[in-house]
Amino acid sequence: MKGIIIYKSKYGSTKKYAEWLKDATGYDCVATKDADTGKLSSYDTIVFMGGVYAKGIACASYMKKVIDRIKDKKIAVFVCAASPYDEKFFNELVALNMKGDLEGVPVFYGRGGFDLKNMTFADRTLCKMLRKATAKKDPKDYELWEAALMEVSDDEAGDWTDKSYLDPLIEYLKG
Ligand SMILES: Cc1cc2nc3c(=O)[nH]c(=O)nc-3n(C[C@H](O)[C@H](O)[C@H](O)COP(=O)(O)O)c2cc1C
Repeated sequence: MKGIIIYKSKYGSTKKYAEWLKDATGYDCVATKDADTGKLSSYDTIVFMGGVYAKGIACASYMKKVIDRIKDKKIAVFVCAASPYDEKFFNELVALNMKGDLEGVPVFYGRGGFDLKNMTFADRTLCKMLRKATAKKDPKDYELWEAALMEVSDDEAGDWTDKSYLDPLIEYLKG
């Protein structure tokens, strides 16, 4: 079976998962910006991987663009976010991003990380604002993403990536 992994990663964690999956499966692996959509028809399996920023999955717009031409393929999506898995957050993310023809495509979850020092100015400003607001809350009221954001200081990096997050996806791809 011929497969391809198409990923969109702003800060590298999703790319790390894409490369781990490439090693585990032998699939081709390419970033959305370099993907040749015309060649997708030659694959049996297509795995999309994207980072999560606020309520968006990075590869969602790419998936929407190509879903029409790959409906006969085995498709899966892997999302990479800083928070630990939470059913409510996950279901909201899926409902918001996997609409129309994307509905029903299986979505898998893994934790990424973040590093304020290496973010774009806009993302760093947003995260710092959120940290300031979160700091005023009682820690027991933190949302999961807020808790992750408070876990590391401005000059540290949080990295929760773990190969084992790929296990359920790899099982699905084998089936
Ligand atoms: C602007 C911004 C918003 C984010 N929003 C969320 C969020 O709502 N929930 C979450 O769990 N992680 C959130 N994250 C953390 C990212 O999902 C995490 O950094 C992930 O590793 C990104 O993937 P990448 O390293 O491939 O870019 C956010 C990160 C940024 C920069």
